[in-house]
Amino acid sequence: MDNAIELANLCKHYKDFALDNISFSLPMGHVMGFVGQNGAGKTTTIRLMLNMTNRDGGTIKIFGLDNMDDEQKIKQDIGVVFDEIFFVESWKVREVEKALKGFYSKWSSESFAQYAGSFKLPMDKKVSELSRGMKMKLMLTVAMSHDAKLLIFDEPTSGLDPVARDELLKILGTYISDGQRSILFSTHITSDLDKIADYVTLIQNGRIFHSGTKDGLLESYRIVKGDLKYLQSALREKLIGLATDITGFSGLLPTSECKGISVEMVKATPTREEILVFISRDDGIRKQ
Ligand SMILES: Nc1ncnc2c1ncn2[C@@H]1O[C@H](COP(=O)(O)OP(=O)(O)OP(=O)(O)O)[C@@H](O)[C@H]1O
Ligand SMILES: [Mg+2]
Repeated sequence: MDNAIELANLCKHYKDFALDNISFSLPMGHVMGFVGQNGAGKTTTIRLMLNMTNRDGGTIKIFGLDNMDDEQKIKQDIGVVFDEIFFVESWKVREVEKALKGFYSKWSSESFAQYAGSFKLPMDKKVSELSRGMKMKLMLTVAMSHDAKLLIFDEPTSGLDPVARDELLKILGTYISDGQRSILFSTHITSDLDKIADYVTLIQNGRIFHSGTKDGLLESYRIVKGDLKYLQSALREKLIGLATDITGFSGLLPTSECKGISVEMVKATPTREEILVFISRDDGIRKQ
């Protein structure tokens, strides 16, 4: 299967943070949720993909092409939505359309009018006068108006109210229904994943914690709970996001490591939300 995105051993070092050998792939025609806590490295990874930041190592392929060598060609087929708007603040919505259409060979003014209409975007308001949710909708409208084969969204739903969020997910579902278009979107909202994602990539402190199918993620981990007397050092070191109180302990364990553990302990299938909570309170460093 062809991949829309292929990252291999991607590295980026900042003073206090490093993206450490990030590798994952998004097969063409699918939707991937990119999930991780604040500061985990989602935006940095997305900026590297879009060649907005230089990488320190590794490779990035979009539609099988190198993201730097073939940047101009690739960008014709990508639609981007960021958590902050990147259009000139004094432009009116209709001027955004006029200014951008010359940049894209497959731009459709009809699609722009249609999506702007369904989002109820006021054509004569300036970008600076739009609410946060409206700005998000404007970026989405632009992203979908040039027939992009890949949509890359950094928290597209964060500024939207629940009705608009639901509406957006439906529009995205229709957008990708021909099976040729793909979406990568970062989010904190795990219910968005349930509705639309086929794949989930979890990033923890600059490292990939898990990347695979949405259901595979739930199969790969178990929540282990038990009385403190069962918390031996070998188990303690393996548990992800270990929490203890007077009633006992709980932590996350790869399913493959659950075989040998005592029947006295409870092993439960986690929700995606619970997995996120466990990895959020873990530094990602395991003792070997
Ligand atoms: N230009 C920069 N210079 C130095 N450090 C940076 C720079 N950009 C990002 N970082 C650091 O990289 C880390 C990851 O940031 P990033 O924005 O990728 O996280 P994120 O997963 O998108 O978080 P959030 O959910 O809050 O948007 C943070 O510690 C941040 O301070
Ligand atoms: Mg971010």
